[in-house]
Amino acid sequence: MNIWIRIATSADLPELLALVRDVLTTSLDASAASIRSLKDNAVKNEIWADAHPDKCVHLVAAVEGAVVGVVMIKEHWNLCNLFVHPSMHRQGVGNVLLRRAVEAARGVNSSRPIELYAVPAATGFYRRIGFTPTGRSREGAEHMILEPRIRNSSSPHCAA
Ligand SMILES: CC(C)(COP(=O)(O)OP(=O)(O)OC[C@H]1O[C@@H](n2cnc3c(N)ncnc32)[C@H](O)[C@@H]1OP(=O)(O)O)[C@@H](O)C(=O)NCCC(=O)NCCS
Repeated sequence: MNIWIRIATSADLPELLALVRDVLTTSLDASAASIRSLKDNAVKNEIWADAHPDKCVHLVAAVEGAVVGVVMIKEHWNLCNLFVHPSMHRQGVGNVLLRRAVEAARGVNSSRPIELYAVPAATGFYRRIGFTPTGRSREGAEHMILEPRIRNSSSPHCAA
């Protein structure tokens, strides 16, 4: 399977909003209110990134022409909106997307840790990439950081 990583464009916005909705309504074990709040936040992030491409890393993963994943690093340190379509979970898409996004963010801001709040189901995934928990949490999500360090992509087929 070829996973193609590229910078998101305005033309991707409708597909990305649909992806966010699909992932959040099928993949998370949370209350309806939490999912609604996560969805509102994710949609706001997508709209913000579309308007501020110079202030973030915003990448999509495509397989056979279809967008199957997205990741965003706001201000080049604040990781949010990492979503992979449920039909593509555990096939390496999230790994490739995140590693490429970290590389791109480090290209702009190499001195600051990359931070995120991980939902419980995703903390294992982030640990494998190298993120470590700080002990802080917010609304049931765990704060994790990736210290500044050059990381190499192991993507099978990438172009950002
Ligand atoms: C979390 C998510 C992005 C992972 O994407 P993915 O494409 O399924 O992950 P990958 O296939 O690239 O997995 C990479 C590694 O992490 C592991 N992994 C994946 N999901 C995991 C999980 N939930 N717990 C523990 N390990 C996990 C994989 O086994 C793989 O390990 P390996 O390299 O040793 O084989 C995806 O499951 C998702 O979109 N979930 C719903 C939305 C979400 O929770 N986003 C994060 C919000 S903080």
